[in-house]
Amino acid sequence: MNNVVSVYFSPTHTSRSVTQAFCDGTGLPVREYDRTLPAGREVPIDLPEDALVVLCAPVYGGHTVQLYMNELQKLHGQGQPAVIISVYGNRHYDRALQDLYHAAVQCGLRPFAWGTFIGEHSFTSEIQTGRPDADDLHAAEEFGRTAIASAEQAVMLEESEVPGRDVDYGMIGMHGQRLGHLTPNRPSPTEDCIQCGICAAVCPLGLIDPKDSRNIQESCMKCGACVKLCPHHAMRFPQEDFRIVQEDCISEFGSDIHLPEYFVKQ
Ligand SMILES: Cc1cc2nc3c(=O)[nH]c(=O)nc-3n(C[C@H](O)[C@H](O)[C@H](O)COP(=O)(O)O)c2cc1C
Ligand code: SF4
Ligand code: SF4
Repeated sequence: MNNVVSVYFSPTHTSRSVTQAFCDGTGLPVREYDRTLPAGREVPIDLPEDALVVLCAPVYGGHTVQLYMNELQKLHGQGQPAVIISVYGNRHYDRALQDLYHAAVQCGLRPFAWGTFIGEHSFTSEIQTGRPDADDLHAAEEFGRTAIASAEQAVMLEESEVPGRDVDYGMIGMHGQRLGHLTPNRPSPTEDCIQCGICAAVCPLGLIDPKDSRNIQESCMKCGACVKLCPHHAMRFPQEDFRIVQEDCISEFGSDIHLPEYFVKQ
């Protein structure tokens, strides 16, 4: 194994941090394919035969975010060993790792290790603020070290060795609606906006007009990038129902204790 190819999607950069810490742990040269932005998704992915492949993306609604699943269909593996990583916002990863496992197998890779890590929630900075923290990133590096030691003789995971559970939004929030139910809202800027264009540049769907941040197209995925990466804290979801979802998420699972988990098949 001479190098690592990492393919990730990460609007608010928690999955990116985990992936990069994992790659640091391997000690090998890394080629990164960031599929977050439209321009990044145009770059053809080269998978050398001697590469370890790392696939990492956030959990959206108990699954691996669909946009990234579409990207995986473009990969053409030749049996390279692969590591699958789901990053979630402290509720659960539900089916997300299994989505990655099936996609990896389908595109010709051999997943032999999985990891789940916690990231600050996309909807609010009040859930697991600042995660992945130093301990999480240390765990991701350790995962990288452990995985690379087994990559040459990698034995592919069985389907049953990849954890998951039914997507469960059964929790009813304190306002009576099912958690995870999101109406088709979009963000809008406050009067603190200086029209710097950063939110437009970080939107994975290219929905925001770079010349006028008030002009935002429909079909927002609520990834949080424009809100969290605005240097003036001027972008937000003003809708009442979005505030209710935030509050319910904070109260239902915001302070649960979850730690990184990983497994490398020997
Ligand atoms: C639309 C949407 C749905 C989400 N669903 C879940 C979920 O089902 N479970 C969970 O724990 N976190 C969920 N999250 C939170 C993200 O998985 C988490 O914050 C992750 O760290 C974001 O990754 P990123 O920083 O790479 O964008 C969701 C986020 C979004 C935007
Ligand atoms: S990043 Fe913030 S300040 Fe800059 S245009 Fe967007 S909302 Fe306005
Ligand atoms: S407009 Fe929606 S999809 Fe685009 S960055 Fe903002 S939250 Fe994400």
